[in-house]
Amino acid sequence: MKPARILAALALFSAVPALAEETVASPDGAITVTVDVNGEGRPFYRVDRHGEAVLTESRLGFLLTDQDKLERRLKVTGATRQSHDDTWEQPWGEQRYVRDHHNELTVRFEEDSEAHRRFGVTFRVFDDAVAFRYVFDDTSMGETVNIADELTEFNLAQNGSAWWIPGGEWNRYEYLYEETPIDAVSVAHTPLTFRMENGTHVAIHEAALVDFAGMWVKRTTGTHFRATLAPTGSGAARATREVPFATPWRTIRVSDDAAGLAESLVELNLNEPNKLGDVSWFRPHKYVGVWWSLHLDEESWGSGPKHGANTANVKRYIDFAAENGFEGVLVEGWNIGWDGNWFFNGSEFSFTQAYPDYDFVELARYAAEKGVPIIGHHETSGDVGNYEAQLEAGLDLMAARGVRTIKSGYVTDACNLRYVHEDGSETRECTESQVMQRHHLKVVTEAAERHIAVNPHEPVKDTGLRRTYPNWVAREGARGMEFNAWGAPPNGPSHVPTMVFTRLLSGPMDYTPGILSLEGRGQPLEMTMARALAEYVLVYSPIQMAADLPEHYAEHADAFQFIKDVPTDWAESRIIAAEIGDYVVTARKDRDSEEWYLGGGTDPEPREMPITLDFLDPGKRYRAEIYRDAATSNFEGPTRFDIVIEQREVAAGETLDLRMAPGGGFAVRFVPL
Ligand code: NOJ
Ligand code: CA
Repeated sequence: MKPARILAALALFSAVPALAEETVASPDGAITVTVDVNGEGRPFYRVDRHGEAVLTESRLGFLLTDQDKLERRLKVTGATRQSHDDTWEQPWGEQRYVRDHHNELTVRFEEDSEAHRRFGVTFRVFDDAVAFRYVFDDTSMGETVNIADELTEFNLAQNGSAWWIPGGEWNRYEYLYEETPIDAVSVAHTPLTFRMENGTHVAIHEAALVDFAGMWVKRTTGTHFRATLAPTGSGAARATREVPFATPWRTIRVSDDAAGLAESLVELNLNEPNKLGDVSWFRPHKYVGVWWSLHLDEESWGSGPKHGANTANVKRYIDFAAENGFEGVLVEGWNIGWDGNWFFNGSEFSFTQAYPDYDFVELARYAAEKGVPIIGHHETSGDVGNYEAQLEAGLDLMAARGVRTIKSGYVTDACNLRYVHEDGSETRECTESQVMQRHHLKVVTEAAERHIAVNPHEPVKDTGLRRTYPNWVAREGARGMEFNAWGAPPNGPSHVPTMVFTRLLSGPMDYTPGILSLEGRGQPLEMTMARALAEYVLVYSPIQMAADLPEHYAEHADAFQFIKDVPTDWAESRIIAAEIGDYVVTARKDRDSEEWYLGGGTDPEPREMPITLDFLDPGKRYRAEIYRDAATSNFEGPTRFDIVIEQREVAAGETLDLRMAPGGGFAVRFVPL
C-alpha cells in the first residue's frame, strides 16, 4: 500500500479528517505529482523532483460564463492509475522513434453543492515532464460547458531566469525574447522557459490544442503564474464544448539542463496518433523561391515592373533548384490582391486568379519536366473569412498545378483576424481563439485530402499536432529571417540560441535560413558565414529554405555546398552543449544515410568548444567536412564573411576543438569512410 493510502486507511480509525492526497511518480521515480484539495475544497497539484519542489501548490479550476466558478467546495471522490510504455515511429522528424513512457493518474472531483458538479483531471508523469488535462465527461454541468477562463496555476518554487515573449500583443509571436527574472514576467506566450536558482530548467506549454482557446500564461504574484485563455472576438465564452470532452494538455518540462528541455518530445506523445494514414506523399525537402528579393525590395509581390512572380523569373528559380538538388520553388505574389497596401486589403486576395504575367499552366508543365514542384502561397492578410470562402477552390487549383506544399500567411495585428461564422456574422479573433483552431485544422484536413502539406506563417503556436496531421509540416511563429532584411533591430546573435529553448520546443519552424550574402535591406546580418550554415542544424524543420538569391549563392559556392548537403529528416537529434540564449551545439544523424551533422552557434561572446565525438557510431572513421569561423571572424563588420573550410579524418570518441567567433558558429558534415 502507498504511504498516502496507509495514512488514509489509518485516518478512518482516528478522529483526524481523512487525507485524500493522491500521488503519481515518473517511471524513473525522480518526479512526483501530488493532487489534493485544500481546506476550502480548492483542488491543487504540486510537482517535486528529487524531493525538491518545482511547482508548489498550484490550483486547478475554471471560471464559467453561465454558472458558478468551478474551483471550491470540491472533494476527491476517486483515483485511477495506469502505466504506459511504447515506442512509435514518426513519418518524418527530428528523431525517427519516440518512446512514450509514463505513469498516469486520473483524479475525480465532485462539488459539495446541490448540483454535485463533477469532473476529472488526468496527469501523466514522464521522466522529463508532467502533463495534465481536464476531463468533462458527464452532464452534471449540463450538455455544454461555457468556459470564461481557466484558473490553472503554475507556481514556481523559486525565482531565477525566464525567457519569454509577450502574450496577445500586436506582433503575435514575432518578438525578440526577453530574458528577465522569473518574478518580472508579465503575460507570456508558451513555450515559456525558466531556469530556477537551483538550476532546474522548466518549460510550460500545451499539447493537442484542438477546438479550444490557446493558453497564455500570466504572472499573478512573485513567481506564481496562471493560465488565461485567449479571448474571442464575440465576447462570449472563450471555450465552448459539448460534453464529453477533454481540454488540451498543460505541459511542464523539467530538466537539470537546457539540453534536457530541448530533447523532450512530450507534446508529441500527448497528441493522437496519425489520422491520415500513409503520408509518404510528403517528402522532407529543401526549397528555394521568390522571397528574399521581395523582402529586400528588389522585386515586388504586386504587379508592375518589379513583379517577382513572372514566368521567366520563376523558370530561372526552377532551373536553379533542379541544378542544385532542391525540391521546391516557393512563389509569393503570384495571385491577384497584392496591389495597394496588402496589409490592409485581405478581402482582395484571390486564391484562384494569377497575375497575367504568371503563366501557372506553363510553369506547372515546366516544374514537372524539371522535377521541381512549385510551392504555393496563400497570404490572407488576416481575412480568414475571405480565405475560407475560397479555400476548396484555392486548394483544388494548387493540386491541379502539381503543388505539394503551401505556405500560408496571416499578416495582421494579433486579435484582428476577420472570422466569418456559420450564420454569416463576423468577429475579430486572436491567433489562439477557439474558432481559429477550427480554421487551422480545416485548412490542414482539406489540404491533406489533396495530398498537400501546409506551412502557415503568423500561425497558431505548435502543440504537437503534426503527429496527428503529419501534413502540418512546419510553421513560422517567431521572428524569422525576414527581420534580418528589414527588422529594427535585426534578430541578433542570441536569437537562435534562445529560440532553441523557447519557440523551438514546440516544433518545426520555417525559419528560412541560408542568407550567405549576410546583407539585408541596407543592414548587415548579425552572424558569421559559418553560423549562417549552422542554422540548418540548429533550427529543425522538415522543410528548409535556401532563402538567398541564386546569384548570391554563385558568389559563395564553397559555403553553399553545406546547404546542398545538409538533410532535413533525421534519425536522431541531440543537444551536445548549451546555455539558453548564450550558445547551443546540436548533433543530428541523417535518416537516409549513416552521416552525422553538427551545428554550433554563439551569442556575441566567442567560445572555445572542445566537442567529444561520442555521438558518432563506434568503430567507424569519418571524413569531417568542417565549416568554421576563422580567427578573424566577427559578426560585426566585414570579417563576418571569413570562414575556414577544411577536412579532417575523425573517429568516435575523439575530440574536435572548434572555436566560435563572436556571433559565430560552425557546421560539420561527418561522412563515414
Ligand atoms: C510574412 C511571412 O513571414 C513572410 O515570409 C512572407 O513573405 C510575407 N508575410 C508575405 O506573405
Ligand atoms: Ca512573419
